[in-house]
Amino acid sequence: MSDNERYVDGLYEADEALERVKTGIEAEGMPSISIAEGYGRLLTLLVRMSGASSVLEIGALGGYSGICLARGMDGKPGGGSLVSLELLQTYADVAARHLAEAGFGGVAKYIVGDAKQSLANLKEQGRRFDFFFIDADKEGYPVYLDYALELANPGAIIVGDNILLRGRTTDDAKQGPAVQAVRSFNERIARDPRLESTILPGYDGLAIARVRG
Ligand SMILES: C[S@@+](CC[C@H](N)C(=O)[O-])C[C@H]1O[C@@H](n2cnc3c(N)ncnc32)[C@H](O)[C@@H]1O
Repeated sequence: MSDNERYVDGLYEADEALERVKTGIEAEGMPSISIAEGYGRLLTLLVRMSGASSVLEIGALGGYSGICLARGMDGKPGGGSLVSLELLQTYADVAARHLAEAGFGGVAKYIVGDAKQSLANLKEQGRRFDFFFIDADKEGYPVYLDYALELANPGAIIVGDNILLRGRTTDDAKQGPAVQAVRSFNERIARDPRLESTILPGYDGLAIARVRG
């Protein structure tokens, strides 16, 4: 983390619900790869400012970003709806527990399995969403973007985390499948005429796009 990121994070009071998630993730022996604190706050703001009431998350881990997303819908009728796709049942269970402890138990629904299959099922069911948060396996990012575009309501927001891959994205010597997939995702975020976007290079990089509608 840079000195600037540490300074900005230090301005905020400790967030009890999110601290509980971090502790819970560690206690379960899960990886500490939740979204950065500053970007978690940004997720809440983006959901709130866009007025989204249906959010699709790809990659739940322990529910840290899930709480940030659900917070942005607080006050919506029924609290809005968060559908979260997670490969591992154990992780989905931990995330569901953390969401419930944070008061969002009725908002989140977890779909366990490979996100690509879950997305195909959601497409077949004709589901549509106002907001997408892409944060699962990096090789899948281009496919996740394709599905987000297909499942998007007009004006939907698409956010993708870790688009700098801790320096690998900009290192020409790195040509692995995850790096190539993320480069392709970033180029499409920047240039797809269906999107207006920006890419923030802080923390590990965050792509933010709005589907023109
Ligand atoms: C970076 S973590 C997500 C962090 C979470 N969004 C947060 O900020 O709190 C990535 C998650 O994606 C899940 N994942 C990886 N490959 C997946 C796949 N093919 N389908 C669904 N989930 C997957 C992992 O199990 C892991 O929980």
